[in-house]
Amino acid sequence: MSDQERGRILITGAAGGVGTFLRAGLPELGWAVRGFDLVTPPDPGPVEWRTGDVGDPAALDAAMSGVDVVVHLAGIPVEDRFDRILKTNIDGTYQVFDAAVRNDVPRVITASSNHAVGYYERADYQDTLIGTDVRPRPDTYYGVSKVFMEAIGSFYADRHGLEVACVRIGSCFQEPRSRRMLDTWLSPADGVRLFHALATAPDLRYEIVYGLSANKTAWWDLEPARRLGYEPQDDSDAFAAKVEALATDSYDPEDPEYKYLGGRFTTHVPPEA
Ligand SMILES: NC(=O)c1ccc[n+]([C@@H]2O[C@H](COP(=O)([O-])OP(=O)(O)OC[C@H]3O[C@@H](n4cnc5c(N)ncnc54)[C@H](O)[C@@H]3O)[C@@H](O)[C@H]2O)c1
Repeated sequence: MSDQERGRILITGAAGGVGTFLRAGLPELGWAVRGFDLVTPPDPGPVEWRTGDVGDPAALDAAMSGVDVVVHLAGIPVEDRFDRILKTNIDGTYQVFDAAVRNDVPRVITASSNHAVGYYERADYQDTLIGTDVRPRPDTYYGVSKVFMEAIGSFYADRHGLEVACVRIGSCFQEPRSRRMLDTWLSPADGVRLFHALATAPDLRYEIVYGLSANKTAWWDLEPARRLGYEPQDDSDAFAAKVEALATDSYDPEDPEYKYLGGRFTTHVPPEA
């Protein structure tokens, strides 16, 4: 496969924040990108576009034709009522995996989250890094939906031979915006590098990896991602002085923001109906 013709990637949730970074960067690495989302962005860029709902199997079947890799990002990215999480994140993720098998797509890469393990305490990871082999400790219904995502990925890898990678993304934004994000930041460019590495890794069966940049203060073990070819280039340290100057709170290790890997998500309650 030449650099100019890696194959076709379908990105669900392509209109969102992470999707916007990936649909800008992956075509430059030779991928033909097809975006899929409830909405169409004003300027989708050099990609094909399909408007649809991940809860709609027919829309997914149409979008997956001729696809080599599905990158599944679509969903609610924060805490919400369980019925909404169930519909969009849990049933929607099931539908995406099932459509991939139905349409003979060999590989699915999904956006899991650090909130699948958000209730681990930072104090226990001062001198060591947290691995991907710890038991899940979700910090929200949202985090629970990411544990489901990792579980159905494992099941479909074993049952159907699907190649699956689940990325526990830290914080993928243009810049880190808080002290916590200095530890959890995944730069947009490293996000593109990571998803590209997972899309091209040979011999992928099933892997969970953490998704972050080469941050000096990270708590998460990047080795599983590095073994699959990810080489991060960015470090949040470049933004440390700016973040510190903007910080409005004093650093209190008992503040949930600093106590738990999931930060303030451990205090989030679902909105009222
Ligand atoms: N941004 C981060 O730092 C971060 C961290 C951890 C995990 N994640 C995960 O990465 C993914 C993308 O996050 P994001 O920050 O880009 O979120 P986002 O809200 O910006 O994008 C999500 C996209 O999904 C689409 N969507 C929602 N429901 C849909 C449905 N039923 N069918 C089709 N499309 C639907 C939305 O329209 C939106 O464009 C999410 O699954 C999120 O949980 C993101």
